[in-house]
Amino acid sequence: MTGSPRVSPRKELVRRRRRRSHSCWGHLIAAPLWPKYGVNLGTLLRTCDAVGACLAVPRRDWVPAALDRGNTLRRPSCVHWLNNPRNWLLAERAAGARIVAVELADESIRIGDLPAARGRTVALLGHESLGIPDEVLDLVDTAVEIPMIGSGVSLNVAVAGSLVLYKLAGML
Ligand SMILES: C[S@@+](CC[C@H](N)C(=O)[O-])C[C@H]1O[C@@H](n2cnc3c(N)ncnc32)[C@H](O)[C@@H]1O
Repeated sequence: MTGSPRVSPRKELVRRRRRRSHSCWGHLIAAPLWPKYGVNLGTLLRTCDAVGACLAVPRRDWVPAALDRGNTLRRPSCVHWLNNPRNWLLAERAAGARIVAVELADESIRIGDLPAARGRTVALLGHESLGIPDEVLDLVDTAVEIPMIGSGVSLNVAVAGSLVLYKLAGML
């Protein structure tokens, strides 16, 4: 580092970013399939934009408004609307996508050991209170957790999802 760091001017940051929203590369998909709080969807949408991922959400009445509220992006990001999240997951799996459960589980690997995604990868995120249902965990290829040493039981889902998305994108 040469000299003290300075906040980059907004104009300069904008210049360095993509000129258009990315089209659906279909490489990395964040999938909060059982959302409870809209604010987490807005946060995840911003992370998806930052790492070039898509967001897959269930088609529920309140979700579009929640995404609009949380969307501070200059251009809309790639959102997949799912009528039946479980069927979508099964179809992704059948088509060869790797399903990565972001979850605290005995079998989870640590985020530090998670390799960057090579092919189409779905990062599955759990319900804010209930986590990922057991019957869905049976379908995943791997589970990953972010180690914690504090007194909290778990992280906020958007924080956990964002960390894993950065790792899968190979940007951390
Ligand atoms: C608030 S947590 C779920 C609540 C949790 N089952 C409990 O008993 O408090 C919501 C979701 O965030 C993700 N999550 C939170 N902390 C995590 C961690 N340390 N490692 C991996 N995923 C985490 C998981 O997807 C989880 O299903």
